[in-house]
Order: sequence, then structure tokens, then C-alpha cells
Amino acid sequence: MAFVFTTENLTKIEEILEKYPPERKASGVLPLLDLAQRQNDGWLSVEAIEAVAEILSMPPIRVHEVASFYSMYNLKPVGKFFIQVCGTTPCMLCGAEEILNVCKSELGISKGETTPDGLFTLTELECLGACVNAPVVQINDDYYEDLSPDSIKNIIIDLKSGKQPKPGSQTGRQCSKAIA
Ligand code: FES
Repeated sequence: MAFVFTTENLTKIEEILEKYPPERKASGVLPLLDLAQRQNDGWLSVEAIEAVAEILSMPPIRVHEVASFYSMYNLKPVGKFFIQVCGTTPCMLCGAEEILNVCKSELGISKGETTPDGLFTLTELECLGACVNAPVVQINDDYYEDLSPDSIKNIIIDLKSGKQPKPGSQTGRQCSKAIA
């Protein structure tokens, strides 16, 4: 399907590209891909990648190479809530496998799948950089930390019922403050 940046996003693109010398505008590829993905319901179609390539005067394959390198870009449609469970060692040692299993059973899907209603996509990824609050799950732009099987279950129940669960530590600790 054709992809055309909205007027609002075109203004944002102008602001982004002002940060770089004109001959280095390709440096804006990451933020432009992010804008395209947000406009395109959370994923980058070929057309969206081509729109970014055209603005940056880059060959589309170069933009595709960037988009396929970073896990923050999706090359397939995702659900309204994109659940990414960290599976790297600190989270794994703190129960990530159980967290992933709760997600699977609550959603009725496996890793890499989307629920039939299009609400949830589940995936596992590498370290989210918040290991001190392991186990951690990213849902769209938010981190949910210090998770337990019960707390991730309640988060999913809230999302299903249209409520916005509170991001951050689920045990009430402030940021990464040591637990007394
Ligand atoms: S290992 Fe999970 S956030 Fe680093």
C-alpha cells in the first residue's frame, strides 16, 4: 500500500534533517524510520522504507539494511501491543522464562505470533539495558520491570480491558534503587 508521510511528520523530518549537514542527511535514517514506523501502525512496509530512502536520497536497499539490523524496527505488521520479553542472562536468571510462559498462556500465542484480534504480538529479544530491574518486558514504548508471573498477568489483563498499566518497577521500587 502506498505510503506518504503526513504533513505533521514532514515538518518533523525537516526539523530532524536540520541537525545534519545537507550532504550528510543520510544520518537521519534512524529517526526517519522511527517516524515512518509510528505512522504505519508499528511496522515498516517496503513503501515506507522507500519513502524514507527517497527523502534521504539513499538507495532503498541501504535503508532496508538499516531497518533489518535493529530490533526496534518491524518488517512485518505487529499487534496494537507489541510485547517484547527480555531473554538475556540476568533476566533469564530472574525468571524470564516463566514471564514468557505466562504471556504465551494468557495470549494463546507463541513467540513471533500475533493474536487473531490483532491486539498483541509476542516476541523475545536481547538485553533491554535495564538488567538491574530484571526481569523486564517492553510493551510498545514502555518498560515493565521487577516482574513476577502475577504482575505480568495483571498487566496483560489490564491491556485487554483497555486500561493502561503503570510502567516501571512493578514492586514499587524507585528507579533502580537497591532493595533494603
Ligand atoms: S538482561 Fe534483561 S534487561 Fe538486561
